[in-house]
Amino acid sequence: MKILVLNGPNLNLLGRREPHWYGTRSLAELEGWLRAAFPEHELDWFQSNHEGALIDRLHRAETEGVEGAVLNAGALTHTSYALRDAIAAVSFPVVEVHLSNVYAREPFRHRSVLAPVCAGLIAGLGPWSYYLAVLYLVRSRHERFPDPTARL
Ligand code: DQA
Repeated sequence: MKILVLNGPNLNLLGRREPHWYGTRSLAELEGWLRAAFPEHELDWFQSNHEGALIDRLHRAETEGVEGAVLNAGALTHTSYALRDAIAAVSFPVVEVHLSNVYAREPFRHRSVLAPVCAGLIAGLGPWSYYLAVLYLVRSRHERFPDPTARL
């Protein structure tokens, strides 16, 4: 399965940026780890600090056979109606993820303008948020209720 993993503003600083919220692993380490967890799937990894670049990448994915996306939009989560419209415009499911528990933080982080057009939202579980989002995209295509005997 081809899955787009989109990372928004400031996530390129992962590992150095507010490690108490985001941990000490870099974005490249997160990418390597996720690829290792899902070797049989094609992960298209993308990071940009620019709203338009993320929107362009989503549009392009539609023509590239992408069947699902994991999106950590960073602070654009809380503000970007343009990104929300782009998510609504594509035909594949998008799972919103956050490393930190946004609901345990400042009030402006409690609202996601993207969540209503996403398949679902996973927050606060660090790298597990990404892992569980990919797992959902891969398995929910075949299993409405997760097969309790399956490992991946
Ligand atoms: C974040 C949470 C956002 O509120 C913040 O702006 C980020 C990272 C997270 O992964 O926890 O940049 O999306």
